[in-house]
Amino acid sequence: MSSPDVPALHRALLGWYRAHRRDLPWRETRDPYAIWLSEAMLQQTRVETVVPYWRRFLERFPRVADLAAADEDEVLALWSGLGYYRRARALHAAARAVVERHGGELPDSADELRTLPGVGDYTAGAVASIAFDRPAPLVDGNVARVFCRLLAIEGDPASGPVRRRLWEEAARLVPRAGGAGDWNQGLMELGATVCTPREPDCGVCPVAFACRARAEGRTDRLPTPAARRAAVPVELEIAIVLARGRVLLERRPPGGRMAGMWQLPTREAPGPAGLTGLFPARFPGPGAGSGGGGIPSAEPVALGAELGEVRHGITHHRIRAAVRRGRWRDGRRVSAPYRWFDPRVLGDVATTGMTRKVLRGGAMTAAAP
Ligand code: ADE
Repeated sequence: MSSPDVPALHRALLGWYRAHRRDLPWRETRDPYAIWLSEAMLQQTRVETVVPYWRRFLERFPRVADLAAADEDEVLALWSGLGYYRRARALHAAARAVVERHGGELPDSADELRTLPGVGDYTAGAVASIAFDRPAPLVDGNVARVFCRLLAIEGDPASGPVRRRLWEEAARLVPRAGGAGDWNQGLMELGATVCTPREPDCGVCPVAFACRARAEGRTDRLPTPAARRAAVPVELEIAIVLARGRVLLERRPPGGRMAGMWQLPTREAPGPAGLTGLFPARFPGPGAGSGGGGIPSAEPVALGAELGEVRHGITHHRIRAAVRRGRWRDGRRVSAPYRWFDPRVLGDVATTGMTRKVLRGGAMTAAAP
């Protein structure tokens, strides 16, 4: 696009955004910490899901210093259900760094923000532009789609060369004389509500006048679809073990996926593609003493009748879980990684999304003796 078009583009998108933007709670605050928190939560997660989490988090940790001083278990418990728990750990570590290195105030430049744990190019650009009105560019999935169409950029937006080009365009187009935050949010808003993946609503698009894909009748072919990563099927068995009104959970090991979070005892059965390693391999069969499928004979949970089935997705894994009544083997004391929980406190425990789904589905009532 030649440079005389850029001011017209700015006027059109900024005017549209200010008139049509959704009322989202983080758009009513100027607090950089609250804005940062919203951007950390919004990555990979839908706006409707984030709103209640964002409110609860800010209520419990109103300032960076409150988050920095918190126990990691409590941070994870408040994040529980949002997924991608690495974000919560990184946010917690970054809050500590902000307190130690910046006296509890977020730095205002994208370069300094990028030095914080978990803050990448996107989050640095979002916080610098939205909270501090710095002319910092950003590209997320929505912005990539808008630019691919507006500028007729070919190729997979996730590939290296196209990604670089998109960031260059974002840097070229971001307003330098104020309004960078609204511009960036306007691009994301346009992608979320008008320039949607399928059937974009070009009739109401404020920048249709400058859109090359529209001029060339190619909005349905841009952006170029990425080669889809095939979903990996995963077969699980989940045990509901109840005793004296309490339910048995196990803690996931440190270091791996969803590290340190609590789940109903869960084992993986080898599927067509083998084992994924997301969970330990299967519970022993009925009467097994020697341990089946790689589980040591010390497996203390025995399985009983099937109570139902749950389906769940984690990144590119398509999970089918058989929920079964379980029994704690007699004579064994419960010790780590297992623990009994009173069901009434589970709302305050960092449980995995799938465990929450199973418990919401009434599994405990079904399993009650
Ligand atoms: N997605 C992530 N952050 C956003 C924001 N601030 N506005 C619109 N969509 C977003």
